[in-house]
Amino acid sequence: MRLTMVGTGYVGLVSGTCFAEFGIDVTCVDKIEDKITRLKKGEIPIFEPGLEDLVAKQVKAGRLHFTTDLADSVKNADAVFIAVGTPPRESDGHADLKYVHAAAKEIAELAEGYTVVVTKSTVPVGTAREVEAIIAKHKKPDAIIDVCSNPEFLREGAAVNDFMRPDRVVIGTDSDRAAAVLKEVYRPLYINETPMVITTPETSEIIKYAANAFLATKITFINEIANLCEASGANVQHVAKAIGLDGRIGSKFLHAGPGYGGSCFPKDTLALTQTGQLLNAPQTIVEAVVEANKNRQIQMAERVIAACGGSVKGMKIGVLGVAFKPNTDDVRDAPALTIIPLLQEAGAHVIAHDPEAQEEADKHLKNVTWVENPYDVSSDADAVVIVTEWNEYRGLNMAKIADQMKVKRLVDMRNIYKPDLMRELGFHYVSIGRPDVDAQDQTQGGLKKVS
Ligand code: UGA
Repeated sequence: MRLTMVGTGYVGLVSGTCFAEFGIDVTCVDKIEDKITRLKKGEIPIFEPGLEDLVAKQVKAGRLHFTTDLADSVKNADAVFIAVGTPPRESDGHADLKYVHAAAKEIAELAEGYTVVVTKSTVPVGTAREVEAIIAKHKKPDAIIDVCSNPEFLREGAAVNDFMRPDRVVIGTDSDRAAAVLKEVYRPLYINETPMVITTPETSEIIKYAANAFLATKITFINEIANLCEASGANVQHVAKAIGLDGRIGSKFLHAGPGYGGSCFPKDTLALTQTGQLLNAPQTIVEAVVEANKNRQIQMAERVIAACGGSVKGMKIGVLGVAFKPNTDDVRDAPALTIIPLLQEAGAHVIAHDPEAQEEADKHLKNVTWVENPYDVSSDADAVVIVTEWNEYRGLNMAKIADQMKVKRLVDMRNIYKPDLMRELGFHYVSIGRPDVDAQDQTQGGLKKVS
């Protein structure tokens, strides 16, 4: 079995490497020469736990190859995966398919014999049919090519494990022959009895967007419930736990926080609303989610300002974490990229730390003082804000942080610390959707403390 992976971005590189781990011969192709040169040297362009070792292992085993030349690998491939970017178009937010279409044309011109072309990029419903049409127009006369949709559900930071132990594999095709090839590709997963959903391309494409939009909705829902908890003295963590115990709801993706970010949820929710409009099936719930999440990130900056007494002018604010979530250096649509500029606009000086994402974030932010040690954000600070729940922030010596601060204010947007303990250390402690938001506020609001 031989596979070609077109595009060595997040999905392409992880999927290609994991397919090689399955024992398949995989060639990863990318147009960016520098990227391929670095990959050949074992340099991984993204931070993803476990990936570097796996790439090295598979290259050494002779199963994983990197090239800029599509021709050779496509000719010999049983399946060619398209894993190129589908960024939102600036004009309307619709997923831009120009790279997918270009890849389909190139593959069609090169493929020989029987080949399955698989769309792995997140693409709107109807794309597999478009790819089919492009291929029919450009393929060699004696080549037989089937098209499949095979969306990916891996999470950044847990990508290798998600790929190796997926909840399900979705294959969308009209061709039994193509389905058989993909079943063979995923055969090692049968050992774990991974469910396979074999369906049409349209259904498969919608499954991917529906999954991401549903998860984004779940997060946005619990964020609004957190607001209600704050307004009434309830505890969102208890609410999430109790509703999550209902098997129909499920416990995952119910952590209230500063709003979702990343390369997927913001882009995919927007693209789904665009497709809904286009096909006259408006996705009004998801439209509301997009709007609520945008506001959520802005409200988080307002929350910091409120915690500082209504103004941060001239204040020094320490920020812990700028990546959109832990275990990644990705800052795309990260809450920190909205929160930090708003605090600066309001007159604050921001000192920030992130174990991996500093370089990426610095491309989008101005006038931030970066520190290498998380404790240094608190030195002489008027407030410390935890935006990303990196593991290394969970066990900080908070007494030391308190001692170093000018004013002991802590805004914990991920609820990683216990309100009582923080108050014992003298912090004015603000978290998300928990009753002990602030002792003073509670006295003023006449709300009862819930333990
Ligand atoms: C997401 C999906 O979880 C993957 O299944 C999917 O394959 C991927 O998008 C994609 O389409 O490629 P990812 O963006 O890597 O994965 O990150 P998540 O772990 O889903 O987190 C997304 C955002 O939601 C983060 O900002 C995170 O902090 C936030 N989140 C997540 C919460 O605020 N609360 C939660 O309970 C869970």
